[in-house]
Amino acid sequence: LNKNPIGIFDSGIGGLTVVKAVKKILPNEDIVYLGDTARLPYGTKSTDAIIQFSKEDTQFLVDRGAKYVVIACYSSASVALDIVRKRFSVPVIGVIEPGVRRALQITKTGKIGVIGTSLTIFSGAYEKAFKELGADSEILGKACPLFVPLVEEGWLEHDATKLIARDYLEQLKKDNVDTLLLGCTHYPLLMKVIREIMGDINYVDASTEVGVELAQNLAELDMKNPSGAGDTGIYLTDLSMNFKEIGERFLGEPMKNFSRVSLKSTEAAR
Ligand code: DGL
Repeated sequence: LNKNPIGIFDSGIGGLTVVKAVKKILPNEDIVYLGDTARLPYGTKSTDAIIQFSKEDTQFLVDRGAKYVVIACYSSASVALDIVRKRFSVPVIGVIEPGVRRALQITKTGKIGVIGTSLTIFSGAYEKAFKELGADSEILGKACPLFVPLVEEGWLEHDATKLIARDYLEQLKKDNVDTLLLGCTHYPLLMKVIREIMGDINYVDASTEVGVELAQNLAELDMKNPSGAGDTGIYLTDLSMNFKEIGERFLGEPMKNFSRVSLKSTEAAR
């Protein structure tokens, strides 16, 4: 038993999709969420910068008593998971492996497409994870950097979004992948457009899988909080324009309990 909160961080508010999934599976757990909106996006920045930011984000959550840390940002998880795991004593889970495991369960042809930010795709993290999980699948990655601003703009079904999506996904469609991994917090919101182009194949949104693995891990480590209130505290490093509207789009419910924080106190993580 451990009544401390679960810590979840993302580059911004997209990671609230993971919060939503975790709340559904673990309704009694308290959650402390950090969205680094002041430094968003992560997916177009360098590996070094994102490793540094990820350490600071984790430190913030640990300072707030997180018993377990979830890296909800695919770009962070791609480049910083191992480093964060080594540096902190709390258990840490990322969003890459749970999705890979799920994709391997459902693929029939072994031809798997992965879409994500430029950092995620070019890091090679997905290829590495597939290899480590012993699969000899064919992994076809495609960076879709324009998807994040389109989702933030709310252009979920806009003609421009369809045009861009067609361009990005054309090759994966031609290559006949039978499973597509949505390797970014924002992409589940584009599911309708993506499905229109890719058709009736398997889709993996890792947020649910992360919730399931987290629940299993907490049970194994005897760290569950079965009687908690299920409170969610949302901390953002900038209350950016439209953050509430965008956040509620991800969370699927009104956003309460949020405040702006500065990560100055985490300078020690440098
Ligand atoms: N959260 C990021 C990810 O999942 C997308 C937004 C960004 O680039 O910061 O990769």
